[in-house]
Amino acid sequence: MKKTLSDLRSKKQLKQKISMLTCYDYPTARLQDQADMDVIFVGDSLGPNELGYEHEKDVTLEDMIHHLKAVRRGIKNAYLLADMPYGTYDTIEAARTTAMKLIDHGADGVKLEGLELAVIEDLSKRGIETWAHLGFNPQKHIEASVHGKTFETARSLVEAADALQSAGACMMVLELVPEEVGALLTERLLIPTIGIGAGRFTDGQVLIAHDLLGLTPKKLRHAKDYGQLDQHMLTAFQHYVKDVSSGMFPEKSNLRHMDQDELHLLRC
Ligand code: KIV
Ligand code: NA
Repeated sequence: MKKTLSDLRSKKQLKQKISMLTCYDYPTARLQDQADMDVIFVGDSLGPNELGYEHEKDVTLEDMIHHLKAVRRGIKNAYLLADMPYGTYDTIEAARTTAMKLIDHGADGVKLEGLELAVIEDLSKRGIETWAHLGFNPQKHIEASVHGKTFETARSLVEAADALQSAGACMMVLELVPEEVGALLTERLLIPTIGIGAGRFTDGQVLIAHDLLGLTPKKLRHAKDYGQLDQHMLTAFQHYVKDVSSGMFPEKSNLRHMDQDELHLLRC
């Protein structure tokens, strides 16, 4: 069954956790969907994780659409979320165009960073499911750090969250905030919260898929290791190179042959 925003809201009501992961390609989308993921997310972390870019800010709308289309083809049931890339929602008009393009190419909802209240209000009035993203914002903040550790900074997060919900944000991603802030916002907000490095009590969890698969070299406190895919891939590639070099690949079972009579004719 196709998952909708209202399913995600029900999960909050029923205190069932929402699962979400980033995804940038078709085969991964198929597997995540098969795993019954609630939300499959084409984040702008596409840049550093999949495209080898220096920063999320280098990701273009064309990059996003290219990968969004591939991920869309792999999904039957999951809710598909797409990030609005850096510099594509600086005005209400620009934001509208960006959001419409992402929706037209298969996104069920779009996410943007920061306190862009006018943009969120406009998009949500147009029926576009618009997600907010508070705490550490890779498009806006230079260094990855925990936000909201002091009374003052935590209070400003609470105020921002209230304002974003009032403006029409339908979901809230919380990145790198203390567990206490994650819990407080989750209790306070009517809309579901999804945490990354935001503790145990948010309505759902999101991670960058490459971090849990072991495809990123760095170790992150908030990520859990679910398998060293890098080692599996490296070993497979090394074996392949070795087998090709030594003539061990292809094997008998990999071959196709001509009919002997046809071969004889060819040789005459
Ligand atoms: O792009 C991304 O992966 C994100 C998550 C870290 C929430 O925005
Ligand atoms: Na992002």
